[in-house]
Amino acid sequence: MALRQIRYEGDDILRKPCKEVKEMTERTAQLIEDMFETMYEANGVGLAAPQVGILKRIVVIDVDDENPLVLVNPVIESSDGEQTGDEGCLSLPGKSATVTRPNHVICRAMNENMEEITVEGTGLLARAICHELDHLEGVLYVDKAEPGTLHKVEPPEPAEE
Ligand code: NI
Repeated sequence: MALRQIRYEGDDILRKPCKEVKEMTERTAQLIEDMFETMYEANGVGLAAPQVGILKRIVVIDVDDENPLVLVNPVIESSDGEQTGDEGCLSLPGKSATVTRPNHVICRAMNENMEEITVEGTGLLARAICHELDHLEGVLYVDKAEPGTLHKVEPPEPAEE
């Protein structure tokens, strides 16, 4: 395991769409392990591969430090409801803004063994799934934030994805 360098807003790689993962190689398995280590070290609840400079459709999420989730080639199958709240991102440290997201999503993906999985999330998990999947399209939360709500935050910061 190794920490990876987190890419920050302004880095072009955060704005590029990611490519599908065709097979689970040793290298990709290592990337997933490193993404978890990097996310936990930064006290984040989610991290997408482009945030460590890799344009692959992989995200890791753990909203409660108890349920690590790997989503490979994730797709949101359905979403409903609405939640409005503060959102942050490890690629924009020390900042937060108000973003409206679905309150419930059903996401299809593959896990680290390339087995098909379906993940259902509400509240923070739904928000994290939407936020991380946006990263795979080169979208950052500030693109969707309510205008004028971007502000600095002091530690402890709100959930960062
Ligand atoms: Ni993020």
